[in-house]
Amino acid sequence: MMNKQRFPIAVFGLLFLVGSMVHANELLFPNSDFESGTLESWTAEGEAFKFHPTKGDNTKVRGRESSNLQGEWWVGGFEKYTGKIGKPGDIAGDKLTGTLTSREFEIKQPFITFRIGAGSLPGEVGVKLLVDGKIIELATGVNKETMVPFSADVRKFIGQKAKLQVFDLATGGWGHINVDDFRGTAKSVPIVPEMKKEFGFTGEISASGYPEVGYDQPNRPQFHFMSKKNWLNDPNGMVYDGENYHLFFQHNPLATVWGNMTWGHAASKDMIHWTQLDHALLPYSVDRRAGTIFSGTAVIDHSNSLGKQVGDTKTICAFYTFAAKPKFYQAMAYSTDSGDSWTYWNEGRAVVPNQGFDNGERDPKVFWHEASKQWVMVLWVQRNPGRVRFFTSKNLTDWEFASDLLRDWAFECMDVVFLPVDGDRNNMKCLIYDASFDYEIGTFDGKEFYAETPSLKQGGGNFYAAQTFNQAPDGRAVQIGWMRGGPNSADHFEVPHNQQMTFPYEFSLKTTPDGMRLFCWPIKEIESLTTKTHEIGSVKLSSGVNALANIPKLDLVDLEITFNPGTAKQIIFDLPRVSITYDPHSGLLRHTGVDNKGKPIEATCLANVKPRNGKVSLRFLIDRLTLEVFTFGGESFAAHYIHPDHNSEILSIHAEGGDAQVESLTVKELRSAWK
Ligand code: FRU
Repeated sequence: MMNKQRFPIAVFGLLFLVGSMVHANELLFPNSDFESGTLESWTAEGEAFKFHPTKGDNTKVRGRESSNLQGEWWVGGFEKYTGKIGKPGDIAGDKLTGTLTSREFEIKQPFITFRIGAGSLPGEVGVKLLVDGKIIELATGVNKETMVPFSADVRKFIGQKAKLQVFDLATGGWGHINVDDFRGTAKSVPIVPEMKKEFGFTGEISASGYPEVGYDQPNRPQFHFMSKKNWLNDPNGMVYDGENYHLFFQHNPLATVWGNMTWGHAASKDMIHWTQLDHALLPYSVDRRAGTIFSGTAVIDHSNSLGKQVGDTKTICAFYTFAAKPKFYQAMAYSTDSGDSWTYWNEGRAVVPNQGFDNGERDPKVFWHEASKQWVMVLWVQRNPGRVRFFTSKNLTDWEFASDLLRDWAFECMDVVFLPVDGDRNNMKCLIYDASFDYEIGTFDGKEFYAETPSLKQGGGNFYAAQTFNQAPDGRAVQIGWMRGGPNSADHFEVPHNQQMTFPYEFSLKTTPDGMRLFCWPIKEIESLTTKTHEIGSVKLSSGVNALANIPKLDLVDLEITFNPGTAKQIIFDLPRVSITYDPHSGLLRHTGVDNKGKPIEATCLANVKPRNGKVSLRFLIDRLTLEVFTFGGESFAAHYIHPDHNSEILSIHAEGGDAQVESLTVKELRSAWK
């Protein structure tokens, strides 16, 4: 009887409760939103909250991001405008410390919801709840002035008396806290990425590698890699998995300019014909830190050091820089399905924490060192004085300090590779270089690098941030670089992409009269693109003679020439989209290039190309937007952007101001790698 009667009352009561909870969104106590324009209900101690609340969007008045205040009044730790004292935009700075404690109130709703911004310094700035004899830290800021909404779950304290305390104990960078609009709410607000502890992708980036985009635009590079669409910079994670070469790359999936760094991904059987796949690594946030994916390298975990191998497919481990403020760190993601899908090790947290030299420590190079049977990481950590740090690991996740290499030339994107001297595999040397291709040759004993040459330099023009394939077959060392600079090709040349890679170059170490030197030469696989070879052989270039007279038309070109400049003042090469001039006296090669705004310019192609025993050897690779030049079998090289509309009336190689002798000349017509 009793039960029957009580049941409907209980249901009614519950519905009433739920109904009121759904709608509840109430101040916790009078002025918990600071809208009285005073600190009524709050007690300030110390200096930090003396001139508060502040009136209006003062961060914005100062030209910073908006504070995202509610109503008219809020507590902005950096501000010094109370509506009466000071003027909008005035600042109190980071130095002041103190607390702002509320009056006691009863917790009636499941959540305390408020806005919070400024310093992300747990334990130093933030909001605490004093309840049940406990002090509970609810939140810290987000390293931006803009306050974000946040809900603290206080369900277990419903019915208890509590106080809020806003605290600022920090005096350095971001040493202040912004808060506004404390309320009791029935529901929590969705958690914004900046407040998330757990791993989550940020930036609304689709992983799609643009299957809908083709390579058929007239100015699209035809035998160089670029992203099908949008921005690309450094090559990343170059590795051979036994079947495919993988080329990852710094990519902005949202625009044709730098930003939103993501690892794009392409695969190839021959380093010439590439298939662009879905993007591999995407910007994420973890432990309330959002970051993007900067450069790094990948290895095939041949001996299952990580212990994640599935079946016979070797795990790919990609080491990258997690570019999150205030300090970058090195992290790792792995793929057990040949790069189709990726798991972020320990949810993208550090495998090598920031070493405390530079906030931007970056670009881990990881490789297997067979002699010492361990993994090695080489990391640029400091500029001026330059410092490169070596680490070693057995399992690819625990990294131990091995040594520091102090070199002022070293900056970004370190690469290390082992090479035979003059092809002798019993005489292997270690080559170390940085983004601008300063290099040294020496030995590496598993811990330290010992130089055997002074610091030298390779590469010129738009060449930057190159790396070599890890675990390449037959011990080959093949490098690809980013062609940095030039105009935004999407803006000027009716293509959907901006920036491209160099052609792959094979390294060799040669003994020269000056000592050991590095030579770079286009990989032999280029032959698969040759459709026609013009063996022109020897020609005397006297007045009026054109060595290319019998070739009516060229488009994509691989040209090799050895000539004796004789009495000529200049040798001129009028080729598709570029004219190159060689002055034997100064050793200067000049070419028709393009500036950053898309305008044609006269530019230096390579300097110091002096005849050797009276002869000069050059090789040119010409694609739709680029010229690559190699001298004397790869002793020096440069990669340049050129203007696609520059075309000489007739193709020609001729001499001016005297006679020259061509000893050998081979012109190869190439086909597109995309067809
Ligand atoms: C070199 C570089 C790297 C960095 C990347 C960011 O070009 O600055 O040091 O990881 O680009 O895109």
